[in-house]
Amino acid sequence: MAAADGGGPGGASVGTEEDGGGVGHRTVYLFDRREKESELGDRPLQVGERSDYAGFRACVCQTLGISPEEKFVITTTSRKEITCDNFDETVKDGVTLYLLQSVNQLLLTATKERIDFLPHYDTLVKSGMYEYYASEGQNPLPFALAELIDNSLSATSRNIGVRRIQIKLLFDETQGKPAVAVIDNGRGMTSKQLNNWAVYRLSKFTRQGDFESDHSGYVRPVPVPRSLNSDISYFGVGGKQAVFFVGQSARMISKPADSQDVHELVLSKEDFEKKEKNKEAIYSGYIRNRKPSDSVHITNDDERFLHHLIIEEKEKDSFTAVVITGVQPEHIQYLKNYFHLWTRQLAHIYHYYIHGPKGNEIRTSKEVEPFNNIDIEISMFEKGKVPKIVNLREIQDDMQTLYVNTAADSFEFKAHVEGDGVVEGIIRYHPFLYDRETYPDDPCFPSKLKDEDDEDDCFILEKAARGKRPIFECFWNGRLIPYTSVEDFDWCTPPKKRGLAPIECYNRISGALFTNDKFQVSTNKLTFMDLELKLKDKNTLFTRILNGQEQRMKIDREFALWLKDCHEKYDKQIKFTLFKGVITRPDLPSKKQGPWATYAAIEWDGKIYKAGQLVKTIKTLPLFYGSIVRFFLYGDHDGEVYATGGEVQIAMEPQALYDEVRTVPIAKLDRTVAEKAVKKYVEDEMARLPDRLSVTWPEGDELLPNEVRPAGTPIGALRIEILNKKGEAMQKLPGTSHGGSKKLLVELKVILHSSSGNKEIISHISQHGGKWPYWFKKMENIQKLGNYTLKLQVVLNESNADTYAGRPLPSKAIKFSVKEGKPEKFSFGLLDLPFRVGVPFNIPLEFQDEFGHTSQLVTDIQPVLEASGLSLHYEEITKGPNCVIRGVTAKGPVNSCQGKNYNLKVTLPGLKEDSQILKIRLLPGHPRRLKVKPDSEILVIENGTAFPFQVEVLDESDNITAQPKLIVHCKFSGAPNLPVYVVDCSSSGTSILTGSAIQVQNIKKDQTLKARIEIPSCKDVAPVEKTIKLLPSSHVARLQIFSVEGQKAIQIKHQDEVNWIAGDIMHNLIFQMYDEGEREINITSALAEKIKVNWTPEINKEHLLQGLLPDVQVPTSVKDMRYCQVSFQDDHVSLESAFTVRPLPDEPKHLKCEMKGGKTVQMGQELQGEVVIIITDQYGNQIQAFSPSSLSSLSIAGVGLDSSNLKTTFQENTQSISVRGIKFIPGPPGNKDLCFTWREFSDFIRVQLISGPPAKLLLIDWPELKESIPVINGRDLQNPIIVQLCDQWDNPAPVQHVKISLTKASNLKGRAYSSG
Ligand SMILES: Nc1ncnc2c1ncn2[C@@H]1O[C@H](COP(=O)(O)OP(=O)(O)OP(=O)(O)O)[C@@H](O)[C@H]1O
Ligand SMILES: [Mg+2]
Repeated sequence: MAAADGGGPGGASVGTEEDGGGVGHRTVYLFDRREKESELGDRPLQVGERSDYAGFRACVCQTLGISPEEKFVITTTSRKEITCDNFDETVKDGVTLYLLQSVNQLLLTATKERIDFLPHYDTLVKSGMYEYYASEGQNPLPFALAELIDNSLSATSRNIGVRRIQIKLLFDETQGKPAVAVIDNGRGMTSKQLNNWAVYRLSKFTRQGDFESDHSGYVRPVPVPRSLNSDISYFGVGGKQAVFFVGQSARMISKPADSQDVHELVLSKEDFEKKEKNKEAIYSGYIRNRKPSDSVHITNDDERFLHHLIIEEKEKDSFTAVVITGVQPEHIQYLKNYFHLWTRQLAHIYHYYIHGPKGNEIRTSKEVEPFNNIDIEISMFEKGKVPKIVNLREIQDDMQTLYVNTAADSFEFKAHVEGDGVVEGIIRYHPFLYDRETYPDDPCFPSKLKDEDDEDDCFILEKAARGKRPIFECFWNGRLIPYTSVEDFDWCTPPKKRGLAPIECYNRISGALFTNDKFQVSTNKLTFMDLELKLKDKNTLFTRILNGQEQRMKIDREFALWLKDCHEKYDKQIKFTLFKGVITRPDLPSKKQGPWATYAAIEWDGKIYKAGQLVKTIKTLPLFYGSIVRFFLYGDHDGEVYATGGEVQIAMEPQALYDEVRTVPIAKLDRTVAEKAVKKYVEDEMARLPDRLSVTWPEGDELLPNEVRPAGTPIGALRIEILNKKGEAMQKLPGTSHGGSKKLLVELKVILHSSSGNKEIISHISQHGGKWPYWFKKMENIQKLGNYTLKLQVVLNESNADTYAGRPLPSKAIKFSVKEGKPEKFSFGLLDLPFRVGVPFNIPLEFQDEFGHTSQLVTDIQPVLEASGLSLHYEEITKGPNCVIRGVTAKGPVNSCQGKNYNLKVTLPGLKEDSQILKIRLLPGHPRRLKVKPDSEILVIENGTAFPFQVEVLDESDNITAQPKLIVHCKFSGAPNLPVYVVDCSSSGTSILTGSAIQVQNIKKDQTLKARIEIPSCKDVAPVEKTIKLLPSSHVARLQIFSVEGQKAIQIKHQDEVNWIAGDIMHNLIFQMYDEGEREINITSALAEKIKVNWTPEINKEHLLQGLLPDVQVPTSVKDMRYCQVSFQDDHVSLESAFTVRPLPDEPKHLKCEMKGGKTVQMGQELQGEVVIIITDQYGNQIQAFSPSSLSSLSIAGVGLDSSNLKTTFQENTQSISVRGIKFIPGPPGNKDLCFTWREFSDFIRVQLISGPPAKLLLIDWPELKESIPVINGRDLQNPIIVQLCDQWDNPAPVQHVKISLTKASNLKGRAYSSG
């Protein structure tokens, strides 16, 4: 409990003797527990106000006789050592302390610690805060107020007259701060009683003893119906809890009847806090005793309203006023905003006190009963507002009033609980009436959502009337205990088996239980402690009370019968008949899908509703009309059954307008409307449906059905009206009551039917223009050929649907077709190319109407063809399909074989677009003529040249023309072996006709030939003939060289040999050139250019022009022949003339000897070879100068020459002299010169004379042979032995590979080196 905490043995105790210590003086209790043998008890020590730790310690030492040097500690009982620092905060008045050797020392002997536990003042101030708890979303504030009403009820219980209890909500700021005052005219309180009021938990049962009793003992009130004994003061907490829950301060003002004085006591939180702060006794104060209406003590402006209250005391004999101030702001808000709610709750709590044991039976007339004397009046005062004042008795919608007044019958009973607890009970039956349960719902705390106006979710499944609420509310001493209810008793719960009454009847009961104070409630009077437990005890006996008498019968059966009776008597349910089976309804949420029993009829409130019957709904949005399809009843029913609800399926009417089936609770059927009225409504609605279209053509251009019309013919405008059955024009669907009027539109579509499908080519939607009807403008753009439909369709606005409720909306279709119009323009068809001069061609024409549709020429027409530079003709033009301008011929120049572009303008007079340009390329026509250039009849050609003819193949307009295989020939005649000229003109139609040169042999004079030019492949082109005069050629034809000697020029013929002295120069060589006609040609410099000689690269041009050739240097050696060539080369000819120059030897000049064979000769031998002698000119050319006679004049001389064997011979064939037999007389070897001389010419030769053959061996440098040469044994000879091989004349003989052997005596060892 909250009240238990907070209280420590802290400050001075109120009203106790310990207070005597005085402020600041502390008494502490010290246990000496240093040794086991310490004194058992504690020692009180006085601690002065300004004491410090040192002083305290000294005092301890002194008191216990401890020497100051001894070691000890002083601790708290929590073993916290007392030090200088914590002395003041720890050593408080009344604390118990230990004297120990050390902080952790064992407690050798037990100690007794003094404590205080006066409750904290929060016990009072916060009691309410903790006690009142919100439950089930209810604000507990009304229950706090109820505590004060309880007290007033108690106080007024013995009033003779009216018992007046006023709750005043003083919220008028002009009168002070907000306050709540509860004032009664009860017995009031003496000052002692007022003092008792303040004591928490001092109840009437504990009041004797310490306190002066106002009772001579508590007397239990006598039992009265519903225990309305007004004995509701019980625990001694209610008033305090209530005031401190509501506010922060309570002023109790009271005057008992037999007292002169008014007693006034104020308890306030602020006051408590102040006392605590000042360390004053909290639970003490004073009561002001004063004379009535004396408000002089009210000085605080916040409470100025008290003056009024106190003034009123004058008129009162006795009273009590509880004035709460410091009201919590949230309470003020609640009290203001929920005035209606909490006053209802109070009316509910005290319902039976206000209205008596039977409760508020509105229907019965009110007599003045003893119970009608309690006036509980609630008034609320706010600034500038009319005070709100309500007497709880006037409230007619508190729950109990609702229960009492919706009940059709009641069932009273009594429960005898073990001990002497008695509980009275009442059960009331709230019947089902036609379409609803009458079981009241709490308007302030609805148990279910109201679905009255909720059209869509009108589904109610086994709607239990009571819902989840328990049956019984519980009253204690006649006053509601709000948070306790009793669910049920087993005799009034729905039976497991089928009972006498249908199950839903068990949900139509409410009840109340009334107990006396034998049953305990919580101190806040919010809950019973154990009521249900006791009631449900197996020993509890329930009996029915009928007419005030307890019935002996078993209550179960009594109740079941009563319930059945109630059901039969009071319930007005629906009878479901014509059972049609059980289905599931998949359109519903899964939990609700089935089973559903279906019926074709119901009986309800005395009327029968059948399938097919026309009905109207109520409380649906919108209201609708329709025919009943069937009825649904949730559950697995089988056959006829009564039920409270169910649903009806209605096909909305007119069906044509809605085509919709709706299901609504049966309760939403309008039971007041006659079927006839519904029927008339439906018929009226039907007649108002759109039925047909009226189409008119205000501007002409009407479209007739199946009309065939030329393209572009306009249609309309169209004026449309939608007519209903009555022929009235309309623009929206009827039935504004059915979900808003739906606007109607007219849609116009023109559809073209083609092989590829239908194509919408025009689509318009027209709205009704209010004053204007539906209107579609003239349409002029229907030009495509084909079949069409013009469709008019009524559609709905927004959705554009063309049906409504399954019925097509009015429409109209007009079929028509569009054909082409008359030709207005034309184009050219496929032309056959190419166009040639003079070759007829056709121009196909294609005609179109003005939209480009193919059209045909039907009327006569004279085309005009024009093209600048051409002359054009045609044969005819054909009409109808495949129109052609036939046989068109064009003549005129075309420039070249590639042709020429012409713009051929075709005009067809009478058409809108009457002319078209045909761009043509006109090619030359067929070959007609051959044109040869030069065009003179006789042509002169020099022999050896080729003649080029320019040929052109021409068409009839003299255009050069070409065609494949256009080969032009030229044949010459008049001489053998003449060439044929051929040229191909296929590509260009013109060419140079030429070929090899015309060459006629040996013509010295003019000759006549014939040339015939023709195209063999074109027989109709006439050949062209020409006469050709062939002239001899004037080109260089011959070259002749001459050698001029004096006046005479000697012709040197080609390949001639010319003898000339060797080393000489040939001067005066000339040349001459002649043409084919042997005419000498004058040498021009151009001709001279073309002359070349092979003997010199440089030719003197001047000399050439004079016909002079360069000089020829004759070779010096007769063996060198010189080949001289003169050549001329031009385009026509290549000529040469050549001769050979043979050098002839000059005069004799030298004699020449030549050795043939070796030039060495051995001593005594003849020269092996011969010496040949010849005579030469100055260049060494041999000359034939010798004859046999010449031998004699030849002389041969030389030193040592042995001429004995000399032999000279003349050699005829070589023109030389041979000399043999040359020999020398023996002598020293060496060179020998020989001189040969003939006439004045001579020459030398040199011969080498060598030693003769070896003949002897000589020792050289060797001493006399007789003398011996000393040699040391084993050594070489001191000098080598040199030997020489010599001829017979002691000339050393140079012979190679000579082997010399040295023989020795047999006793001599020797070795010899030999050398050559
Ligand atoms: N309006 C009053 N007139 C006369 N006496 C009153 C009035 N209000 C309270 N008292 C006296 O003060 C006492 C204390 O009231 P309080 O409401 O605090 O406790 P209770 O009524 O005794 O018990 P309970 O806890 O059930 O309310 C009452 O028993 C009653 O004697
Ligand atoms: Mg009370």
